[in-house]
Amino acid sequence: MDYVHGYSDYEAGRLRNSARALRDLLHADVRYAEGACVLEAPCGVGAQTEFLVANNPGTRFVCADISAASVRVAMGQNPGLPFLAGDLYALPFPGATFDHVFACFVLEHLDRPGRALENLLGVLKPGGTITSIEGDHGSCFFYPETPEALAAWACLPKLQALLGGDSLIGRRMYSVLARAGFEDVRIDPIRIYCDPSLPHMMNGFVEDTIVGMLRGIEPEVIARGLLDAAVFRKGVEDILAIKTHPDGAFCYTFFRAVGRKPA
Ligand SMILES: C[S@@+](CC[C@H](N)C(=O)[O-])C[C@H]1O[C@@H](n2cnc3c(N)ncnc32)[C@H](O)[C@@H]1O
Repeated sequence: MDYVHGYSDYEAGRLRNSARALRDLLHADVRYAEGACVLEAPCGVGAQTEFLVANNPGTRFVCADISAASVRVAMGQNPGLPFLAGDLYALPFPGATFDHVFACFVLEHLDRPGRALENLLGVLKPGGTITSIEGDHGSCFFYPETPEALAAWACLPKLQALLGGDSLIGRRMYSVLARAGFEDVRIDPIRIYCDPSLPHMMNGFVEDTIVGMLRGIEPEVIARGLLDAAVFRKGVEDILAIKTHPDGAFCYTFFRAVGRKPA
């Protein structure tokens, strides 16, 4: 299946800005023991990798992504770490290799998220854990809200569904992990909230993450006729304007799941 965000330099920058803005929220409890061996999959361009490494000195990380080009960029950003090309549907590791897995922002893109999780379960040692973080585009609301902004935002889940994914997967994380065979599954909804008193979140989340995602899909939205081009562009500008509106507010929820491989 096609990957909704693509692999442009623009997207690499968006992933990095977004990871920086969300660092404290997403990585708050992600701590591993010294000497533990952790698989980060997928690693993309290594945007989360630098935070994993900084927060977990002494942990050994192995990082994989289906895109060889992204892996090369990630390597350049995080020299000295083992990076390799690897498909979640055909992982290049023997069973029971890792103590933990960190999987961020990928299940929504997959047509068989359960199969990918089963494969990640397979490469974990018994008793090992997975941390899996996904968004849910249905969890989003904002002020001011215009019809064009709502219509533009709705294009993202529509396009993802056409490509075989599900950008509303956040709300299903418990059952998706439990059905794949993980036990003790715990879900933490992580709420992102932005208002004028939080300009760094308006920049890092509303502009870099949300507007960044929408700008990235514009050619595909127009090519597929999902929305009139002028309406889409006005909707994106309306969402961007929330950033500087005196009453602007934006809310979104990510879901962080932790599950354990049965011992
Ligand atoms: C939104 S990016 C997230 C990357 C990274 N986890 C981050 O948070 O910056 C999604 C990544 O999933 C990768 N991906 C998509 N399908 C994959 C598959 N079947 N196996 C491995 N990686 C895959 C893409 O290449 C892309 O790098």
